[in-house]
Amino acid sequence: MKTIDDLIAAGIAGKRIFVRADLNVPLDGTTITDDGRIRAVQPTIAKLAEAGAKVVVASHLGRPKGAPDPAFSLAPAAARLGELLGKDVAFATDTVGESATAVVAGLADGQVAVLENLRFNAGETSKDDAERGAFADQLAQLADLYVGDGFGAVHRKHASVYDLPARLPHAAGDLIATEVGVLKKLTEDVKRPYVVALGGAKVSDKLAVIDQLLEKADRILVGGGMAYTFLKAKGHEVGISLLQEDQVPVCLEYLARAEKRGVEFVLPVDVLVSAEFPDLKAKAPVNPGTVDADAIPADQEGLDIGPKTRELFAAKIADAETVFWNGPMGVFEHPDFAGGTSAVARALLNCDGFTVVGGGDSAAAVRTLGFDENAFGHISTGGGASLEYLEGKTLPGLAALED
Ligand code: 3PG
Repeated sequence: MKTIDDLIAAGIAGKRIFVRADLNVPLDGTTITDDGRIRAVQPTIAKLAEAGAKVVVASHLGRPKGAPDPAFSLAPAAARLGELLGKDVAFATDTVGESATAVVAGLADGQVAVLENLRFNAGETSKDDAERGAFADQLAQLADLYVGDGFGAVHRKHASVYDLPARLPHAAGDLIATEVGVLKKLTEDVKRPYVVALGGAKVSDKLAVIDQLLEKADRILVGGGMAYTFLKAKGHEVGISLLQEDQVPVCLEYLARAEKRGVEFVLPVDVLVSAEFPDLKAKAPVNPGTVDADAIPADQEGLDIGPKTRELFAAKIADAETVFWNGPMGVFEHPDFAGGTSAVARALLNCDGFTVVGGGDSAAAVRTLGFDENAFGHISTGGGASLEYLEGKTLPGLAALED
C-alpha cells in the first residue's frame, strides 16, 4: 500500500487529489454533536494541502436514499473542517454536477473543497457494478490522484470507496494507516491477557466477531442489550429486555465453545431495570431498580449493567495487556443508565495495557461522557469497519488501496 508520504515525495503540487474521508458525524439539526471523525482526518487533508495539492474531500453522511436530502447535507461538516484547518474550505452543492466541476476548477494550489454527500447519487451505493462504475467514472474526472482515508467506510463496496481507486493512482491516508496498524496489534502477536468487552443493542451484529474472538481472546465480557440473549441462553428470564430469541441457540453454542477453549465468557451478574424505556431527549430521572441478572422481573427491562458487574468487568480488564472495547454497556444517552459505560471506559483508562475503543457508539460515548480521548491507546473512527476487520473479512476499501 502506498502512503501519502510516497505521493508527496513524488510531487503533488498542483495535482487534484480526491480524498475519500468519513465525515459521517452525528448531527442535531445542523449542529455536529461529535466531530471526532473530522478531527481524525484533518491532518491528512492539511498535509496534502501544505504540499501544494488541490484537495477534493468527499464523504457520505447518514443513509439518504440516492437523491439530495437537505437533512443529510455535508455543509456543517465542511464548515467544521474549515475551522479545524484554519482556512476557507469551498463547498460544492453536488457531487459530480456543475457545482462540483466549477468548485474543483476554481481551486488554487493548497486549497481544499468538500463535495456534497456522495449518497445523494444512487450510483454510490448501488449493488450493480455498472451503475457504481459509471458514478466512479464521473468522480474520476474531478481528480488526478486518490487518497483513501475514510476508515469508517472501508467495509462498504461503494463507488467512492472501491471503484474509484481502481481508476486513479492511489494511496492510503494517514488515518487508515494508523487504524490498520492498531487492528494488526489486535490480530497478530497479541499481547496477553487479551480482553474484549462487547456491548450494543443487537447480539446478531456481534456474533461473527465473537466467533473469531473465541479463537483469540482470553476473556470476553458482554454487556449492553446483547447480553440479554446470552442470559436467556443460560436459562434466565429477562423480562421485557431486548431479546433476539432466534439467536439463543448460537449463543448457547458460543458459551459451550468458550468453556471448551478456556476462554472466560463473562456476563452481567446484576443489571439496572425500569418498567419503561427512558426519554432520551427530556432525560427525566427514571430511578431504576437494581436486580441480579437471574432475577429480572417479568415487567421490567434491563437498561445497564449493575454495580457488581461494573466491578467485575473492571477487575477482568485491570491486568490486561490488550483491550478492545466495542459497544455501550447500557442506554448511556440517559444519565441513569450511563454508569456501566462510564465504568468500562474508566477501567480502560486504569489499565496499563494497550486499550482500543471501537468506533461508532462507544467512541461517541467516551467523548460525550467527558473522558479525555487522548488517555486511551486508540479510539477508532470505524465501528462496523473494525468489527469486520476482526471478523477476518476482506474489506473492499482496503483491498482497493493495495498497489
Ligand atoms: C459508520 O458510521 O459506521 C460509517 O460511516 C459507515 O456508515 P454506514 O453504516 O451508513 O455505511
